[in-house]
Amino acid sequence: MLVVKTVEEMQKIAKSLQKQGKTIACVPTMGFLHEGHLGLIQYAREKADIVITTLFVNPTQFGPTEDYSQYPRDFEGDCRKAEESGADYLFYPEVEDMYPVEFNSTLHISGVTDRFEGAFRPEHFDGVAIVVAKLFGCTMADIAVFGQKDFQQTLLIKRMVSDLNIPVEIVVMPTVRREDGLAKSSRNRYLTEGQSAKANMIHQALINGGLAIEKGIR
Ligand code: PAF
Repeated sequence: MLVVKTVEEMQKIAKSLQKQGKTIACVPTMGFLHEGHLGLIQYAREKADIVITTLFVNPTQFGPTEDYSQYPRDFEGDCRKAEESGADYLFYPEVEDMYPVEFNSTLHISGVTDRFEGAFRPEHFDGVAIVVAKLFGCTMADIAVFGQKDFQQTLLIKRMVSDLNIPVEIVVMPTVRREDGLAKSSRNRYLTEGQSAKANMIHQALINGGLAIEKGIR
């Protein structure tokens, strides 16, 4: 697996792969890879000639009081895991390369982002939209694979590629969970042992809520 550190080099490689007629799958991540990410990379491996995993902790999708600087990072571990799962390239750009001082664009996809997470994290989805559009521009992907865990994000990305005519097929893969039901997430790192033991209650409560609705309970 080759680590590619600049936008220019990534685009050069992607253009050359395209010229050779290779299909490219992109798996965008912010690193600290877990089984959920690895499943996406393995799926991409089956679907395309070339798999590019991107590792970029995107500052524009974090609010001013959020965890950008503490976001868990493990570059060595991520390289090993991405390679073992079948990635050919790891795109690992610097913030200054993705957002140079003259960078001056915003991207707001309304509708799908108005409610739920978008309602209380106002900057978040604009940051996701701009970085994912940029990652598609850098990797020239034919397919991009995302996890269903971030469900609203997948709706936003589908809307964006349709609205902007970006020629990439969006694939959404089921959430990978711990045995007790908790969704695998890089941020599970923040949970204490006690919190981690209790966190599956959220999943359990949603299942119970679903069952109640099916029985007609409102
Ligand atoms: O889901 C994530 O990890 C991020 O939101 C993404 C899609 C890689 C954009 O930074």
